[in-house]
Amino acid sequence: MSGVKLPQGFRWERLRQDHPRRQFSSGQSEVDDWLRAKAWQHQKKHLSVTKVLLDESERIAGYYTVATGQVDFSDLPVDATKRLPRRALPVAILAWLGVSADYQGQGLGRLLLAQSLRDCYEAGDTFAFVAVILDCLNDDVKRFYQKWDFEELPGHPYRLFLSHRQLEAMMKNPT
Ligand SMILES: CC(C)(COP(=O)(O)OP(=O)(O)OC[C@H]1O[C@@H](n2cnc3c(N)ncnc32)[C@H](O)[C@@H]1OP(=O)(O)O)[C@@H](O)C(=O)NCCC(=O)NCCS
Repeated sequence: MSGVKLPQGFRWERLRQDHPRRQFSSGQSEVDDWLRAKAWQHQKKHLSVTKVLLDESERIAGYYTVATGQVDFSDLPVDATKRLPRRALPVAILAWLGVSADYQGQGLGRLLLAQSLRDCYEAGDTFAFVAVILDCLNDDVKRFYQKWDFEELPGHPYRLFLSHRQLEAMMKNPT
């Protein structure tokens, strides 16, 4: 998998049924329950794809799930919709992301987000989308995403978006 540089001993894999999903604990029950109970089922049905970051002991240090979706033209800020048609618009969805509690605060969340955005960007060569959208669970997590230029959707304080134009700039000029 092309992408961000990982610390030694870590590697990415597409989620498999035999990954130790049930041991994963980020401290956020919705994030843990998704990986434990739903991520594999949804991947099998081609509804979403989950990538796991494995440590040297084959434990899941973190994961993210991406999917495709649509938002209505009127849900996006005016600035983001200039010259776009007034209809449902395709988006990439960063549906879930979590770091194991043992590894939080060591930069893995940043790596997961960078890799998930790279996946979206590369997929955009084949399947067009106008923005990456995500729902955050609380204000802390919102601050985490806002470090990467994600902005609130008007009227939806916990739904954030990053336009394709911003994504492209980020991928071409990584900081
Ligand atoms: C939110 C989460 C993914 C962050 O991962 P992490 O590995 O701890 O974060 P990192 O160490 O990579 O930190 C990256 C930056 O974000 C900041 N950050 C990390 N967690 C943050 C939080 N909860 N609130 C605000 N800022 C945060 C860090 O200070 C750091 O900033 P810096 O680059 O200026 O130093 C992780 O804490 C987590 O999995 N939480 C539980 C699950 C969850 O809430 N998932 C998101 C909702 S789907």
